[in-house]
Amino acid sequence: MSDVIRLEYRDITMRFAQGTGKMLTAISGVSFAVRDGEVVSLIGPSGCGKSTLLNIGSGLSAPSEGQAFVDGERVEGPNAHVAFMLQKDLLLPWRTIAENVMFGVEIQRLPLAERKRRAQTLLESLGLAEFSGHYPHQLSGGMRQRVALARTLAVDPSVLLLDEPFSAVDAQTRMVLQRELAQTLKRAGKTALLITHDLLEAVTLSDRVLVMSKRPGHIIDEIKIELPGRDNPIARRREPKVAEYVARLMDRLDIGGTPLEAGATA
Ligand SMILES: Nc1ncnc2c1ncn2[C@@H]1O[C@H](COP(=O)(O)OP(=O)(O)O)[C@@H](O)[C@H]1O
Ligand SMILES: [Mg+2]
Repeated sequence: MSDVIRLEYRDITMRFAQGTGKMLTAISGVSFAVRDGEVVSLIGPSGCGKSTLLNIGSGLSAPSEGQAFVDGERVEGPNAHVAFMLQKDLLLPWRTIAENVMFGVEIQRLPLAERKRRAQTLLESLGLAEFSGHYPHQLSGGMRQRVALARTLAVDPSVLLLDEPFSAVDAQTRMVLQRELAQTLKRAGKTALLITHDLLEAVTLSDRVLVMSKRPGHIIDEIKIELPGRDNPIARRREPKVAEYVARLMDRLDIGGTPLEAGATA
């Protein structure tokens, strides 16, 4: 990790027109930065504006007020510095796995041989090499998300924006995918902003967790995760301190619940 800032939100406010003609303030005055090689998670109640913030970072939508910057440049539209991964894998059914992985790279006008080489390297590192000629419908949900991750990485972005990437896969596959994501991010030294509803996922995958309030969403807490092994979320799960972080996040989200009393029987 270095002190170079890769992604920055500066005083972002976002309003949407409602059907009724009224305006809805989705986000209000959000500022934060993500440094080179850092993984930051964003958590908060549904509808607080998390996806909206990612859309703004990717240039898919423009904020009502404030600015987003990637690599020091103001985001003014979709650009090759940022790549997106969503809950739905959005793979093209008529393309093979390798062709899907190469999809984002095609617009970068790289020679075909180089595109193929990149796709193959990524598929190998994610354990998908033998499926490169398969079609998406031949793969499980977890494998398809892995392909989506490979496609996101293929464009070699400065910043990865991940919007609940694993929420549609089962709990155990999810742990495997979390580990693969963490290892891949670490190996490539990538910077990422991850949206998740899974507090344990946020704590075990991140260097920092930002908590958003209910709408209009703003940042209400920031927790620096001081645990070893950010590339090994499975090992992190076993760290006693993880429970403390999760408890603090539950408190900040008003999920409530008090600790079981010492010696109480279930
Ligand atoms: N394009 C849009 N037009 C109108 N309202 C929107 C639009 N996008 C999001 N919203 C509203 O903004 C709020 C925040 O949405 P979103 O960013 O998707 O929340 P989250 O991802 O945190 O669940 C919601 O109330 C949503 O209905
Ligand atoms: Mg969302």
